[in-house]
Amino acid sequence: MMEVSILWGSQTGNAQNLAHLIGDSLAGEFSVRVMDMGLVDPEEIFGMKALVVVTSTYGDGEPPDNASEWMSFLKFEESLDLSRLHYAVIGLGDTYYPHFCQAGKDFDHYLSKHGAHSMLGRLDCDLYYEEQYPDWVKELKSVLKNRVLD
Ligand SMILES: Cc1cc2nc3c(=O)[nH]c(=O)nc-3n(C[C@H](O)[C@H](O)[C@H](O)COP(=O)(O)O)c2cc1C
Repeated sequence: MMEVSILWGSQTGNAQNLAHLIGDSLAGEFSVRVMDMGLVDPEEIFGMKALVVVTSTYGDGEPPDNASEWMSFLKFEESLDLSRLHYAVIGLGDTYYPHFCQAGKDFDHYLSKHGAHSMLGRLDCDLYYEEQYPDWVKELKSVLKNRVLD
């Protein structure tokens, strides 16, 4: 069974909740691990084949605290080779803020910059994420099922 890692960055629980909802909908067909980004060494990315990043945004477009180490790793490490990794990003934010879903946008940017392959387009959710995510997850599921990821 293909392994899918779901990493969440969250301050008040929304992205954490969403990560588990996504995990629940993939479970059964895939071997899913839902993890707090703050508790996973970024070096573990080299052992991952399919990664889903679920993150909210704070401050002036910053990642939540538990995602800051991963963000710095992807931002400042120079020669990462992530060409064996397939990823998808779903961001949570609020259109009230000028840097809407910036942390999700940054994860998408840096993963791609290091050669990881986007499985499907990023979804930037506002506060109604529970209505927005199901179609995206349906697409994610079909991509995971239909594509050979290595
Ligand atoms: C102090 C504060 C700053 C925020 N800054 C942003 C921001 O810059 N961009 C954005 O899209 N959302 C921003 N948000 C909205 C959160 O990302 C949103 O409420 C999200 O659902 C929180 O998810 P979490 O519970 O997983 O942390 C901010 C919220 C707060 C309370």
